[in-house]
Amino acid sequence: MEKYITTPIYYLNGLPHIGHAYTSILGDVMKKFEQMRGNNVFYSTGTDEHGQKNQHSIEESGLSAEEFLQKQSDNFKNLFVDLGIDFDYFVRTSKPEHKKIVQEILQNIYDRGLIVKKSYEGLYCEGCEQFKKKTDLDENGCCPDHKVAPKAISEENYFFRLEPYRQWLIEHIKNNPDWIQPAKFANEVLGMLREPLEDLCISRPKSRVWLGVELPFDKEYVTYIWFDALVNYISTHNYGHNPDFENIWANSNHLIAKDILKPHCIYWPIMLHALGLNPVKHCFVHGYWIGEGGVKMSKSLGNVVDPVEVVNLLGVDALRFYLINNMTMTGDSQISVDLLKQGYKLLANNIGNLQMRVLKMVQKSLEGKVPSKSALNDEDKKLITDIAGRFERIYSQEMSLETVSELADSIMKAGDATNAYFAANTPWVLAKDPTQKGRFDAVVYTTLECLRLIGLALYPLAPATAEKIETSLGIELNEFKAEFKPFELKEGSTIKVGDPLFPIVE
Ligand code: MSP
Repeated sequence: MEKYITTPIYYLNGLPHIGHAYTSILGDVMKKFEQMRGNNVFYSTGTDEHGQKNQHSIEESGLSAEEFLQKQSDNFKNLFVDLGIDFDYFVRTSKPEHKKIVQEILQNIYDRGLIVKKSYEGLYCEGCEQFKKKTDLDENGCCPDHKVAPKAISEENYFFRLEPYRQWLIEHIKNNPDWIQPAKFANEVLGMLREPLEDLCISRPKSRVWLGVELPFDKEYVTYIWFDALVNYISTHNYGHNPDFENIWANSNHLIAKDILKPHCIYWPIMLHALGLNPVKHCFVHGYWIGEGGVKMSKSLGNVVDPVEVVNLLGVDALRFYLINNMTMTGDSQISVDLLKQGYKLLANNIGNLQMRVLKMVQKSLEGKVPSKSALNDEDKKLITDIAGRFERIYSQEMSLETVSELADSIMKAGDATNAYFAANTPWVLAKDPTQKGRFDAVVYTTLECLRLIGLALYPLAPATAEKIETSLGIELNEFKAEFKPFELKEGSTIKVGDPLFPIVE
C-alpha cells in the first residue's frame, strides 16, 4: 500500500529549531516504520514562503525576496538532510507548480459562488497569520501564543463561508474517531465547532501584503497564506492533473503540533469538502517542546535548544531517539541540552554497553564467532521470544504517535531485560570453566540474538545505530524489514567489534 505522510511547512522568518526538527524527524520515523512493514511511503516536508511574517523578514534582511527565501529554505532542507530525514519531496510554496494549483482551486470555488467580497474590520495577529476574536486574547488583549496585541485592520476582502459546512464537519469527526489523534484534540475541535463559524477571509490587499499568490479573479489581492499553504498537501501530488491523485490522498496522514489545529482541522477539511475531496485520513497532533522546568524556550532565557548544536555534541541518532521517546501524549514535554545528555547516557548504558560487553566477550573467548544455540534453556528461549513477540506486536500496528512512542519504550525495556539477563548469568565466570561451555555458549547466543532483534526494531528511530548493530553481528542488511523471527542469528558468523555506539561525551 502507498501511504502519504506530511509535516507542516515551516515559516522562514527564523532558523529551524528543535520543534521543527521534531515534527520532521517524526515523519521520517513513521516513514521508516511503515517501510519496514512493507508499505511504500511518500513523505513531504518543506517551507511556507508567503505571508506578512516572511515579508517583514525579507524587508529587514536587505536581500531580494528570492535570495532570502532560497537561503532560509536551504537552512531547513540542509538541517533535515543532516538529521537523516528521507523526504521524497521538499515543498516550497514559491514554486510556480504550487502557485498554479492554488489559483486553479481559487478560481474553481469562486466560479461556484462560494467566495464573496465585503468590507471587514478585525484584529490581526501576524505571528499566527490569523484574525483573532476578542475572546481569543489574553487579559492584556494580546495573542496568548505570541504575547503581542493584534493590529486592528479594516479593509475590503474576499471571504469563504465556513458555517454551511459546520454540521457536516461535526458529523465527520464523530463518525471517524481515528481521524484526529489523540482524541483530546478531536474534542478540542468539537469545542471550536460549538459556535457558528465566521467567514474565512481568504485575501489580502497587495498594498499590505505583496508576498503571496495573486487571486486569479482580482489582481489587487494575494491569497491568504493559510489558504495557499494548506493546498501544498495536494499540489505536491499535482491535484487536478494527476489521475492517481485520489489513491494517494486516500492514505494521507498529516503530522502537526497543537498550535495549528484550527487551520488543519477546520479550514482545511472544509476547503477539501468544497472541492469534493475527503479530509486527510489521519491527522496526528503532538504537543509542544518546552524548556527544562516547564518554561517556554526563549532567546532571552537562553534555554533554546539548537538542533545543530545537539547533533554536533551527541549525534543524530541520540537526538532522534530522545525526541520520540520523550514526547508525552498528554501535554507538553521538556527538553534541554542537559536532558538530552541524560537521554544519551541512558542509551549508552543500555544498548551501547550491552553491545560492547557481549562483543568483547565473543572476541576474547569465542574467536570472534557467534556460538551455538543448541543448549538454550527455557529461560534463554523465553527472553528471546518475549522480545521478538513484543516487537512483532508493535510492528503489526499502523504507525501513530502512540506506536512510535511505544516502540522507543519497548527498545529500552528489551535492552534492560537483556542487560539484566547478562549480569545474572555471569558469562565471564562461565567462560573460565570448560565444563560450562554449553551454558556459556547459550548465554552469549541469547544476548547476541536479543541485540539483533533490538537493532532491527531500532531502525526507524536511530537508523545509523541500527545498521552498526547489525553489521557488528556479521549481518549484511540491505533493507530493514519488520520480521522478528526468533533464533535467526547464524552460528559461526563473524562479529566485528567497532567503536562504541555512544562514546563518552564531556
Ligand atoms: N507555516 C505554518 C504551517 C503551515 S502547514 C500548511 C506554520 N509554520 S511554523 O514554522 O510556525 O511551524 C509550526 C510547526 O512547527 C508546529 O505545528 C510543529 O510541527 C513545529 N513546532 C514549532 N515549534 C514547536 C515546539 N516548540 N514543539 C513542537 N513542535 C513545534 O505554522
